[in-house]
Amino acid sequence: MTKIRAAITGVGVCLPEYILNNEELSKMVDTTDEWIMTRIGIKERRILKGEGKGSSDLGAGAVLDLLKKTNTLAEDIELLICATVTPDMQFPATANIICDKAGIKNAFSYDLNAGCSGFLFALATATKFVESGSYKKVIVVGAEKMSSIVDYTDRATCPIFGDGSGAVLLEPVEEEIGIMDMILRADGAGRVHLHQKAGGSVKPSSHATVDAREHFIYQEGQPVFKAAVSNMADTAVELMERNNLTADDIAYLVPHQANMRIIDATGKRMNLPNEKVMVNIQKYGNTTAATLPLLLWDYEKKLKKGDNLILATFGAGFTWGAIWLKWAYNS
Ligand code: UT7
Repeated sequence: MTKIRAAITGVGVCLPEYILNNEELSKMVDTTDEWIMTRIGIKERRILKGEGKGSSDLGAGAVLDLLKKTNTLAEDIELLICATVTPDMQFPATANIICDKAGIKNAFSYDLNAGCSGFLFALATATKFVESGSYKKVIVVGAEKMSSIVDYTDRATCPIFGDGSGAVLLEPVEEEIGIMDMILRADGAGRVHLHQKAGGSVKPSSHATVDAREHFIYQEGQPVFKAAVSNMADTAVELMERNNLTADDIAYLVPHQANMRIIDATGKRMNLPNEKVMVNIQKYGNTTAATLPLLLWDYEKKLKKGDNLILATFGAGFTWGAIWLKWAYNS
């Protein structure tokens, strides 16, 4: 019997219109365009404005764009997984809200939180549902309103993050294309370096937690940086080696966009020239679970059927991993 594989058959995105550039940011905190460009590599990021708007609005926008682009009916979607660390609310899942806003009525849906590796982990999960033969039209969406948890008085974190959403359609194929192999890892001991202190069951929201600014991202940049460089590169290289892939075989590395220096280090460890490393951090910053689909969307026209891509991520948890896939279509 032919093995069923899962392939990405389309990409949709939704980006807020408002652009927060380094000049404007420099008026909010003590920083400069030069520092941000040298240390992180971000020029501007998108911010979702407007009362009552949340990650689901961006997620639904990306899903509607995807359905239109792929000529898919909302009623044909069977499963939607939303990767996010900025859900609309603690419950219900943002995935349920996205389905409602996008008119998806015949699916089950749930959220998955794996920090900046959320999209990768959700893609891995969705792949198994498709490979098993159980489902034929599955959407994976990364949707983040990071500006809702960024402290715009903290110069060490506020330049990094941006808002945005991207979604992919996953369908079964019987050719040797689609998701080929994956390595996924997590280490909860890393939580001390990157987390949100209050608002969960350990420390429910109170006047005191708000006064102490504990609902924002807490990040110790350097330990996160070190772990990101070594783990993201190690897993990507391990995935290449165990599949006998050399740098020549790879069309693109699709790396999580957290810091240009982490992206460069990962590409170098894989022996890839710069032109084989997807980058759009300068335009959108770190959109957490949305970085990978935003990259696929930005580079979609350059991709050809059969191209080998390595998706690699690192994020809060700690979580990290890599997926090898063969691109499934020409645009
Ligand atoms: O996506 C989830 C995973 N997250 C990551 O992968 C992030 C990993 N970490 C990083 O990307 C980097 O650690 C940061 C971008 C967060 C920080 O860069 P860094 O090179 O590690 O800087 P640092 O924290 O060591 O700070 C160096 C200096 C400090 O000043 P002193 O103590 O040397 O006088 C900071 O106060 O830079 C200062 N600094 C700034 N200066 C101007 C920190 N932020 C800023 C700023 N503008 N925005």
